[in-house]
Amino acid sequence: MSKPTFYITTPIYYPSDKLHIGHAYCTVAADAMARYKRMRGYDVMFLTGSDEHGQKIERIATEKGVTPKEYVDDIVAGIRELWKLLNISNDKFIRTTDDYHEKAVQKIFEELYRRGDIYKSEYEGWYCTPCEAFWTEHQLKNGKCPDCGREVERTREESYFFRLSAYADRLLQYYEENPDFIEPVSCKNEMINNFIKPGLEDLCVSRTSFRWGVPVTFDDKHVIYVWIDALSNYITALGAFGEDDSLFRKYWPADIHLVGKEIVRFHTIIWPAILMALDLPLPKKVFGHGWLVLDGGKMSKSKGNVVDPVKLCARYGVDAIRYFLLREIPFGADGLFSNEALIHRINSDLANDLGNLIKRSESMLHKYFGGRLPAQQTSGAPDEELTSLAGEVKKNAEGFLDHMEFSNALAEIWRLISRANKYIDETQPWILAKNEADAPRLARVLYNLFESVRIANILLTPFMPETAALILSRLGTDKTGWDDAVWGGLPQEFTTEQHDSLFPRIDVETEMAYLSEMTAPKPAMKKPELAPTIGIEQFAASELRAAKVLSCEKIEKSDKLLKLTVDLGWETRQVVSGIANFYTPDQLVGKTVVLVANLAPAKLRGVESNGMILAADAGKEVRVVFLPDDIPAGSKIR
Ligand code: MSP
Repeated sequence: MSKPTFYITTPIYYPSDKLHIGHAYCTVAADAMARYKRMRGYDVMFLTGSDEHGQKIERIATEKGVTPKEYVDDIVAGIRELWKLLNISNDKFIRTTDDYHEKAVQKIFEELYRRGDIYKSEYEGWYCTPCEAFWTEHQLKNGKCPDCGREVERTREESYFFRLSAYADRLLQYYEENPDFIEPVSCKNEMINNFIKPGLEDLCVSRTSFRWGVPVTFDDKHVIYVWIDALSNYITALGAFGEDDSLFRKYWPADIHLVGKEIVRFHTIIWPAILMALDLPLPKKVFGHGWLVLDGGKMSKSKGNVVDPVKLCARYGVDAIRYFLLREIPFGADGLFSNEALIHRINSDLANDLGNLIKRSESMLHKYFGGRLPAQQTSGAPDEELTSLAGEVKKNAEGFLDHMEFSNALAEIWRLISRANKYIDETQPWILAKNEADAPRLARVLYNLFESVRIANILLTPFMPETAALILSRLGTDKTGWDDAVWGGLPQEFTTEQHDSLFPRIDVETEMAYLSEMTAPKPAMKKPELAPTIGIEQFAASELRAAKVLSCEKIEKSDKLLKLTVDLGWETRQVVSGIANFYTPDQLVGKTVVLVANLAPAKLRGVESNGMILAADAGKEVRVVFLPDDIPAGSKIR
């Protein structure tokens, strides 16, 4: 019999300069869900990706002097690396610039036009470029975007419209007949009362004022509205409106679209209406999760209060961060990312509870039985409570996970971990060890401890895949599937090594200082005292040239200085630069730098320097200005 299917998606992310921990939150949750369902025997399709078109991207790329595609390629590579780092097990990554997606979106647009659900007219209203959202006058809040509070732009252009207004009744009926379609229920009420009941207006679905989008095939001065393009990803990724739609036939409709609460509107009004217009089945559920907030506000780059997931993972480990995200915040609600809470979770839950349980069990097994657990015979008083709790925890964790209650599921698993720790204090293995006749009982106690660890770890696998796999491999058992999380799976006799703590306790003071520095809003730079204005002739008196670093070494008896030999195209030069605290020689060799080539020679620590390498003062650090590798040595810079 074929497995039941489970299709879960995250939003596709805008390629902003850097994804922050708030973005990671949704993807980590989707990943835990996908892993859980795979363990439960589902054939899972887990989709994520990037949403790369739109006015915003076009503008940023223009400002940076690159093409939009060049701009997004670079950032999307970073997004994929972040998901790899976080052990995200997505089955597919879609880019809206993928050729197959663009073609399918064009077909979807054509089909909606052919059916009369898209028509041509003129748009006049307000547009929020950061949100890529249209607003009517009465939807604005104090004249600003009601979602992000930023300035909106008056827009007037010939446009195509989608007949959204025709779908209000059918949407309400669908919500009514499918009470689980929108969760949590607060999101559903908001959609009905704030958006559908006041009246749906037809949606402007094409733009002519910029080019970075999917062109309308039959009228190519128009590009397709980015949200139509983006929402379609959920079906184009499966091959719908493409050459091979077998995945679409297999996995659609989606079981869950997981999205942040501010984009529930697009997923529960616009998206279902488009699907209705195309005569396609609707997703089974749209789950709107809360935001991770910092100091009372949503994290955002413009506020300068973003927390970098790469730095957090490097410092505390990927699984500690995954655990924290899913444990600390009830999934539907907003949650405060607080430094204290992160440190507390790591020290209390991971180091103390989980880490200690394993460490204590391993060290007792080594102390009392030389690392090899012998067969056990007897059973004692608290055993029954522990074994039945393990069964109860599994059942409850399943119930919570089936309702996306990650935090409750983890709290449940921790009941077993805490109970096992208490079991050590109750059974007092150190007393049993004193009496030869108690050896079989002692062996039973240790068996029960390792069995609790094994079961807890199976249940933890969707949340902390690396840690759980590591612990399970130490137990030398192949009973690691979800259905193996029942008492008695561990062999009666087994051997294990002693290992270092999985989660060493971290120093609260040091880590608070580190995190405060990382999460503090970075104030905008104060205007510095600028040097007096100069004329172009005065600037032109500086001879700036591209120089290739041929070799580089530290200067003895100096902490700060590096000696470099650079190629200027027509000659080589020796230059001394005070950057040894920031670069090692091998980070510079082969690079192209900017040399002030007509600076009078000077001696630094007795070493001659013929020129100066340009660098930026970046806070406490110094960063060399590197040029692209393909710029020939000696090129003039002006
Ligand atoms: N591109 C659209 C989604 C299109 S889906 C067809 C988009 N992209 S986004 O990059 O701005 O946001 C992606 C997701 O990250 C959203 O679900 C958003 O809610 C989520 N988050 C962004 N900041 C967040 C927090 N601070 N906390 C939790 N989630 C947050 O919207």
